[in-house]
Amino acid sequence: MSVDLPFHKSWLGEEEHQEVEDTLSSGWLTTGPKTQKFEEAFKDYIGCKHAVALNSCTAGLNLALALQNFPEGDEVITTPMTFPATANAILLQRLMPVFADIEPGTLTLDPKKIEAKITPRTRAIIPVHFAGHPCDMTPIQELADQYNLVIIEDAAHALESKYKGQKIGNSGNATAFSFYANKNITTGEGGMLVTNDDELAETVRVMRLQGISRDAWKRFGKSGFAHWEQTLAGHKCNMTDLNASLGLHQIKKIKQFTELRKKYVSMYDQAFAGVLELETLAVRNYAISAHHIYIIALHLECLTIDRDGFLDAIQSAGIGVAVHYIALHLQPYFVKNFHTKPQDFPVASSYSERVISLPLYPKMSSADVERVIKTVKDLVKKFSRSN
Ligand SMILES: Cc1ncc(COP(=O)(O)O)c(C=O)c1O
Repeated sequence: MSVDLPFHKSWLGEEEHQEVEDTLSSGWLTTGPKTQKFEEAFKDYIGCKHAVALNSCTAGLNLALALQNFPEGDEVITTPMTFPATANAILLQRLMPVFADIEPGTLTLDPKKIEAKITPRTRAIIPVHFAGHPCDMTPIQELADQYNLVIIEDAAHALESKYKGQKIGNSGNATAFSFYANKNITTGEGGMLVTNDDELAETVRVMRLQGISRDAWKRFGKSGFAHWEQTLAGHKCNMTDLNASLGLHQIKKIKQFTELRKKYVSMYDQAFAGVLELETLAVRNYAISAHHIYIIALHLECLTIDRDGFLDAIQSAGIGVAVHYIALHLQPYFVKNFHTKPQDFPVASSYSERVISLPLYPKMSSADVERVIKTVKDLVKKFSRSN
């Protein structure tokens, strides 16, 4: 059966269409005035000093880490419950990813598991604000201060997340956001690195475009011929004005999008509250979640079906689903190269076998949410051991 209620569908209005048209007719497609305008809007929204637009969150993590110039083989602690982007940023700098397990309930990096992983070679921590729930940053920051570690925040899921009342992105740590198609706002592909550090921001601006000291639009916008200069060995990961055309309008809709996400999450939470075969994720009292993803974890001991069977059954009812995530230490790359085992990170291993992400996005309707709820509850009933 084909899926007629997809896992995600973007909400793009007339404004985005018109802005893209305007960019196309302007003749300027790459990084230029629209990108700069989007950066300004994003910076104001977060309340930070600098926002540098990139072609992905991955690029933000790569650059933030590259600029630290850590010696090859030094260690960076992160969570195994993440997308490969987080650990790839570490690996591609020839650094060593060191995982610390997650905490039950929120599936975020467990601060209590970090200290045992710190060695004389540890240089940084990359917390991931998983599914929009912020990590418990106070104890993580205390460890970083104690051991002189850099924190780079992976906020791919965390646009609209708050920790102790403060927006993620506003902590002073370099923080990378994603605007990939299914994120809380989208530019198709895209990302933003935010920071309060003037020098870091300026270097990232240079690094995003081949280590060249000026963006092309500034170079050619000057009166008279202005030579560009290569000052660093750079990457090629600047955002284009076409992508920024979407971001400019998406950022204005973030409150509306979040309200709808919140409404659908409370519908799911209420519906699943008394279902013993399912666990829904916790929100700690220090946290406001961006509700990027809605996850249920199956209590497999209460069911006669495994997670993959459950995924198949939901999809057979025409509803798109996903898995966030099968943890990185279980992925063939890490098993082969780092000899990781399920028992190394038991909490992440357990959730890896049990989690299912249900559709959650502003473009869906309350009726869609009701349909997902009914489908999940019917399946639980059908496969419950208590039958
Ligand atoms: C936790 C996490 N970090 C980083 C990324 C990378 O984001 P991007 O696709 O914008 O590079 C993703 C993408 O889904 C993600 O889920």
